[in-house]
Amino acid sequence: MRIAMIGSGYVGLVSGACFADFGHEVVCVDLDAGKIAALERGEIPIFEPGLDRLVADNASAGRLRFTTDLAPAVAQADVVFIAVGTPSRRGDGHADLSYVHAAAAAIAGAVEGFTVVVTKSTVPVGTGDDVERIIAETNPRADVAVVSNPEFLREGAAIEDFKRPDRIVVGLEDERARDVMTEVYRPLYLNQAPLLFTGRRTAELIKYAGNAFLAMKITFINEIADLCEKTGANVQDVARGIGLDKRIGPKFLNAGPGYGGSCFPKDTLALVKTGQDYDSPLRLVETTVAVNDQRKRAMGRRVVAALGGSVRGRTVAILGLTFKPNTDDMREAPSIAIIQALRDAGARVRAYDPEGMSAARALMEGVDYADNAYAAAEGADCLVLVTEWNQFRSLDLKRLRAAMATPLFIDLRNVYRRREVEAAGFTYHSIGRPG
Ligand code: UGA
Repeated sequence: MRIAMIGSGYVGLVSGACFADFGHEVVCVDLDAGKIAALERGEIPIFEPGLDRLVADNASAGRLRFTTDLAPAVAQADVVFIAVGTPSRRGDGHADLSYVHAAAAAIAGAVEGFTVVVTKSTVPVGTGDDVERIIAETNPRADVAVVSNPEFLREGAAIEDFKRPDRIVVGLEDERARDVMTEVYRPLYLNQAPLLFTGRRTAELIKYAGNAFLAMKITFINEIADLCEKTGANVQDVARGIGLDKRIGPKFLNAGPGYGGSCFPKDTLALVKTGQDYDSPLRLVETTVAVNDQRKRAMGRRVVAALGGSVRGRTVAILGLTFKPNTDDMREAPSIAIIQALRDAGARVRAYDPEGMSAARALMEGVDYADNAYAAAEGADCLVLVTEWNQFRSLDLKRLRAAMATPLFIDLRNVYRRREVEAAGFTYHSIGRPG
């Protein structure tokens, strides 16, 4: 298959490289000439484990190309994917579809012959209808089938998720697209990955409903963690106890500082807006959004309380800034709200993250950035583990203790066992665990 991928951001680049690895001929298109030039030089603009290798291998095999020139890429393609951004619209939380609409118009002007146009970007219910209408209005002769094929990639594990998906969802209204999409996903399909064909609106909603459900699951265990702290129960044991019930399942029950990232916050908000627009409110999701927002801020207050109620003039070391490990993504990261709360309360903040430092520097002024965990801890009154990078799982606790002015360790990801941290001389706080 000849595939054009419109948008070479996170989703477009990972999907494009993986499709090329399946043996398809892929052209990744982007308006950003600097990004395309960098990709052509083999430079990957994002941090994603394994992606540099996958891009390099497929580019050198001639199956993966990059261009700013949309028209020829679309004209030659059997399938055109739209993988442009859908950020939250300023002010109202709706998904901003202007890039999707612009891509649809550009595709309409360039298609030749029957072409399947697939939205991979996360888009609200009914966007496939918009794309179809824009293409028909822009070019009445265009012969296209518009499909919804949402992605379920986790940052940091995107290639694995792409190649070993729990399911592939394809929403279509034009039966001609069915065989084409089966062919696009042929290697996975042959590997027995469930290929779920639905209506287009259903596929669009599956994406939002899936992310909202996961966000609710995390928020639920976070509130149970709070209750555990009050009652002397242990949230990790509660999670295991409920997770062994197959109807609940063990994943996404890790209590922490609240979910962040480029997807859950944006998608839950967009789903809430859709519910309001259709007069079908999603009250559980609305509450999830509010509880999670409050939680991120509350984590800062938790640190202040652990330091005796005042942090003025005291130094807090933050380990981990990105919204989760194995990414350089800072979007909606809990660290932002925590650092803000600490600085507002008068603390000095010194932070370290293995990959997120340049994004963090651009986002947060007035923070001292350290070169490693031990440098961050030097002279600090409190150490807060915010993101569970692997390198923070095996810290030399005695060395950290020796570096710090006050031995206080707040573990917002429950990475350590109380005994080992206390044995190194720290006072230890974690999430939803007794003591
Ligand atoms: C999420 C979904 O997991 C993907 O399936 C989806 O495709 C993607 O959004 C998307 O819509 O594009 P991602 O945002 O990369 O992926 O990251 P997750 O691993 O889901 O983590 C999201 C947030 O939840 C992180 O802040 C993480 O720390 C938090 N989390 C996750 C918890 O606090 N506890 C958990 O048990 C799991």
